Amino acid sequence: MAEASFEEQRENKERFQFGQNWKSFLNVLNETRINEAERSLVEMLSFDELSGMRFIDIGSGSGLSSLVARRLGAHVTSLDFDPASVWCTSHLRDRFFPGDGDWEVMEGSALDRPMLMDLGQFDIVYSWGVLHHTGEMWTGLRNAIDMIRPGGVLFIAIYNDQGWKSRAWWLIKRFYNFLPKPLHTIFAWSLGLILNAGNVLKYTVMLRPMDAIRPLLNYEKRRGMNFSHDLIDWMGGFPFQFATYEALVNYAEAAGLRHERGIKATSLGCHQIVFSKPDRGASIP
Ligand SMILES: C[S@@+](CC[C@H](N)C(=O)[O-])C[C@H]1O[C@@H](n2cnc3c(N)ncnc32)[C@H](O)[C@@H]1O
Repeated sequence: MAEASFEEQRENKERFQFGQNWKSFLNVLNETRINEAERSLVEMLSFDELSGMRFIDIGSGSGLSSLVARRLGAHVTSLDFDPASVWCTSHLRDRFFPGDGDWEVMEGSALDRPMLMDLGQFDIVYSWGVLHHTGEMWTGLRNAIDMIRPGGVLFIAIYNDQGWKSRAWWLIKRFYNFLPKPLHTIFAWSLGLILNAGNVLKYTVMLRPMDAIRPLLNYEKRRGMNFSHDLIDWMGGFPFQFATYEALVNYAEAAGLRHERGIKATSLGCHQIVFSKPDRGASIP
């Protein structure tokens, strides 16, 4: 069955408007955040520069990762399903690389296989925090895998399966999208404050309060992100799926990829995993 359009999904309250949140994030984007995003991308990919490489950013959101990849020398294709995210990414391109022919920004879906296959294959397929928001995570992952050129890499971030907690998050996100718009921010901040206060209390009892407080103070260390925008994204980000680290690795390995490195989420948050596609000899089922 064909995927419903962004507008249809939004009207049916089945899709969070990520792009609106990213528009607001652009107001706080500065050089420190860009440098932090660059540091984390370089660290995970293990490349100092991406000169001449084809890089696709599936679900580009604000466009920050695409910007970083372009600054590192890659030929970048940015793709997003949400027209406002496409606007944000185009805005960043026009601000930092006006008239650049090596950075294409497109509206489209990670589930639109014929369109994706028409784009060809890429040295780096990057999709951070996206495939679990498509509504069909495994189809999206399959498509992403097939876009890697032999010898290329895939970098994904996918929400951790926390058992019943993930199911509770599904309900929270579903509820958020049913709420009338004026209540969104109040709901997100109220629940966010309760959860964070609970976390600080838990670590205080363990005599390590700074373990909970420090990450909030140094928030931009998380890929240049911002707490208030991530909070809205956590509460509203729907559709929502999740997987264990092992399930992701098993799926990718069965499709012929090799696990290179990763950071396994132990609670709320995303597993970050880098895979490579062997140069030859692998048969993708
Ligand atoms: C949580 S944001 C992550 C943005 C960016 N990758 C980052 O790491 O900051 C998820 C993004 O995925 C996009 N997205 C959701 N479903 C998508 C789909 N089917 N195809 C392409 N992008 C999609 C959303 O519009 C949103 O911009």
